[in-house]
Amino acid sequence: MSILRSSIPRTVLAPGSSTQALRATCLVCHSAPLTSPSPRWTPYTRAFSTTPRRPIKDFFPAPDTPGIVKTEAAWPHPVYTDAQMKAVVVAHRDVRNMSDRVAFTMVRILRWGLDLASGYKHDKAYGMNERKYLIRNIFLESVAGVPGMVAGMLRHLHSMRRMKRDNGWIETLLEESYNERMHLLIFLKIGEPGWFMRFLVLGAQGVFFNAMFISYLISPRTCHRFVGFLEEEAVLTYSREIEAIEAGKLPKWEKMDAPQIAIDYYKMPEGQRTMKDLLMYVRADESKHREVNHTLANLDQNSDPNPYVSKFEDPSKPHPRKDLAYQRPTGWERDDVIN
Ligand SMILES: [Fe+2]
Ligand SMILES: [Fe+2]
Repeated sequence: MSILRSSIPRTVLAPGSSTQALRATCLVCHSAPLTSPSPRWTPYTRAFSTTPRRPIKDFFPAPDTPGIVKTEAAWPHPVYTDAQMKAVVVAHRDVRNMSDRVAFTMVRILRWGLDLASGYKHDKAYGMNERKYLIRNIFLESVAGVPGMVAGMLRHLHSMRRMKRDNGWIETLLEESYNERMHLLIFLKIGEPGWFMRFLVLGAQGVFFNAMFISYLISPRTCHRFVGFLEEEAVLTYSREIEAIEAGKLPKWEKMDAPQIAIDYYKMPEGQRTMKDLLMYVRADESKHREVNHTLANLDQNSDPNPYVSKFEDPSKPHPRKDLAYQRPTGWERDDVIN
């Protein structure tokens, strides 16, 4: 099932591209056009589509506001070095109590359902290709932005209702959901979801938001642990994608550049703007979510300050930070940070 690019409006073609030359290019698998002027993907084209029948369009074009030059990100992304991103590891925190057990069981059930829906197996990774990974990433990221927003919202309302300080948790939680939404927007620049995926996202969000809302009211600690375990899976998934690129199993992604939205957000340095580089950044973000949520689950939910926005007496000692300077994959224990 392929659609010829002659149906694409001229405005979405890369400058210098000839509609004539691209006439035989397949929209579903751009990177293997029959006749293509350039093997590299550019931000003007979306490389994959899960909706083969619809003409490609920009999901979020720049608004038509000549008086405004640029709208900056509300939360600038911390700078990650190449060495720090390479130091990110797959990790699992032991289940230590009943709350952990509940959280881990929920993650395993969710994981099983998602694997079934996306035909994915970590151990075999059979039949996984760029398009399937992208669909999985889009679905995962659309769900991943929910917990931080729910937790931040509930803590915000709690602080106002009880007339108490929150001690810095809200900002980190909202920033996490913002970061997850950026992941989603980045992947949407690469692939457009079809109607079935949109339906799944809608259903998942409806169910997940409400489940998270009620769960957080009952046990915020269990919810943070749940997110910590979920992010362990996210780190694993992105590690597999990076390994697959390195092993030459995802040839289309090997040739692909990161979209401009990602280059701007991460301030990706020149020469490190490939799809693999992008996945390294996203994986590093997920590792930070993993650490933050495992750490928050270790703290007193009502009285402890958020160590990720706190100043420490001795800043030369390793302590929780927003960037990757001191990585603790399974989270900081309460005794390490609150004393
Ligand atoms: Fe994410
Ligand atoms: Fe995440």
